[in-house]
Amino acid sequence: MIQLTVNRKSRSFDGDPEMPLLWFLRDELQLTGTKYGCGLGLCGACTVHLDGKAVRSCQTPMKAVAGKKVTTIEGLAVNGDHALQSAWKQHNVPQCGYCQSGQIMQAASLLHEKPHPSDADIDAAMDGNICRCGTYQRIRAAIKTAAAAKTATLAAPRQERVELAAAPPGIKLPSTESASELQPELVAGEAAL
Ligand code: FES
Ligand code: FES
Repeated sequence: MIQLTVNRKSRSFDGDPEMPLLWFLRDELQLTGTKYGCGLGLCGACTVHLDGKAVRSCQTPMKAVAGKKVTTIEGLAVNGDHALQSAWKQHNVPQCGYCQSGQIMQAASLLHEKPHPSDADIDAAMDGNICRCGTYQRIRAAIKTAAAAKTATLAAPRQERVELAAAPPGIKLPSTESASELQPELVAGEAAL
């Protein structure tokens, strides 16, 4: 029996320890925001976090996640309002959307390691995440916006942080609508396919 944590919930798995984590997430937990692209570790569509670091879940066997913490796009932020998710909306990054949960998870890992990434840092970190729609320029812009928003949030007085976290500079969220109502497919990590 393999015990692990997925999006802050304890989970167990009693199957083939060689089975890819991606199948466990999608088929057993119905966390379908994580996508199957190539199955070969070449596209990044299946990117999740393992103990906070980006990994390709199609290449990660269940035996490698025993006792570890897995985070998927559904668990990146409780209300789908991570700075990257807000920035993705601001820049209208997705086209077909299929690659985007993997892109966001890779970017989140980058910002965790480098809160102020340069263009070269972004290019190096995102190099393995393929977007067949060519949204690379918007992805780069959104990562910079998210990095700036995080910095502003940390620098703000305590009472302003919640508001800044919900609406980084340049983003005006209608007070009557939640983020999930505005773009539920991105918040939930559900792409069009
Ligand atoms: S599906 Fe995992 S890298 Fe392409
Ligand atoms: S938005 Fe279509 S593959 Fe990236």
